[in-house]
Amino acid sequence: MTPETVRVPLGARSYDIKIGGGLLDKAGELIAPLLKRARVAVVTDEHVMAAQGERLKAGLATGGVEADFITLKPGEATKSFSELQALTGRLLDLGIERDDMVLAFGGGVIGDLTGFACSVLRRGCRFAQLPTTLLAQVDSAVGGKTAINVPQGKNLVGAFYQPALVIADIDALATLPPRELRAGYAEIVKYGLIADAAFFEWCEQNGRALLEGDAGARAQAVKVSCEAKAAIVSADEHEKGKRALLNLGHTFGHAFEAHFGYSDKLLHGEGVALGMALAYDYSVRLGHCPDEDAERVKAHIAASGLPAGIADLKTQIPADTLVHYMMQDKKVEQGKLTLILARSIGDAFISKDAQAQDVAAFLKEKTGR
Ligand code: NAD
Ligand code: GLY
Repeated sequence: MTPETVRVPLGARSYDIKIGGGLLDKAGELIAPLLKRARVAVVTDEHVMAAQGERLKAGLATGGVEADFITLKPGEATKSFSELQALTGRLLDLGIERDDMVLAFGGGVIGDLTGFACSVLRRGCRFAQLPTTLLAQVDSAVGGKTAINVPQGKNLVGAFYQPALVIADIDALATLPPRELRAGYAEIVKYGLIADAAFFEWCEQNGRALLEGDAGARAQAVKVSCEAKAAIVSADEHEKGKRALLNLGHTFGHAFEAHFGYSDKLLHGEGVALGMALAYDYSVRLGHCPDEDAERVKAHIAASGLPAGIADLKTQIPADTLVHYMMQDKKVEQGKLTLILARSIGDAFISKDAQAQDVAAFLKEKTGR
């Protein structure tokens, strides 16, 4: 498979996303041109280290790059102030300088924590993203959002800090648990729904093959997703406007994730899938979108093994609880919710004046409570 390159054009902070198979095996060769000295620090988690670590070690060594590995506990709890403190301390102890390169080797948890650590280490040291989950390859490793969680909420302390390079090795997905793969697939479907009806149709036709392991379909979907994200990020890096479209399904989804304590009872991508289904249903209710589009969206989400309705969660959650969580969203302005709604498949828009009472009534109909 010939690797593809997608460029994220951001002036002096522009960078490439390399997408393809076997890329970890030649990581040293890919990274060496960006290095001031042939030495990196790699931040990863225990699962990724066990599943893919030897490939990266060998790939860096073949390219003549020395590496120190820092292996953290897997899971959302690692995105914390205490882990940030420990990680920055270890990077300093290793003598990492501003011009050195730190590699974030893992899913969104490792990417978000490492990116944030690099944004503050010596007031900013360079880093590259080596995403190993589908979610990270199509979303979190691209675009420069970095963050940790605090008791007040998820991702509330962070920075926009772009990587110098992203290497998305499709072969790394071979060891990813199927449930994590499906969760990442939700973010791929999202790009079709936001602005690319033809890509949504491609997903309907190729989603099953992608989930079952078709490397060509995976590479194609990662490429199209990264192209879509790169275009939005380069137009609105700091989310002053259209970048909010990337939050399709997220405001509804976060309410469910918060209810489950951001635990593995509901993965982020599963929350996004359910949230997208609800965003389409709510768009129909407001008269923005034809019912048949919402039905098609929900049918594809369900066929992909993702939650497409609140009933799929098999638990009763009061609508008021959900609205309470939605009102904690970063995009609430003067008490009004910002929702990403849709006119059709491939035509999402930002709605700034969603009425909490109406959303509550809608969710009451959906939850029956
Ligand atoms: P994750 O990083 O927790 O990874 C999921 C699980 O898969 C972990 O147990 C991990 O150890 C394991 N894993 C990763 N790669 C593997 C591989 N190749 N083989 C075997 N196991 C592997 O989860 P995620 O879904 O990648 O990321 C979720 C995080 O990303 C959340 O914290 C979310 O807030 C964040 N996020 C950030 C952005 C952004 O723009 N920065 C966007 C979306 C999500
Ligand atoms: N994941 C949404 C964004 O990067 O803006």
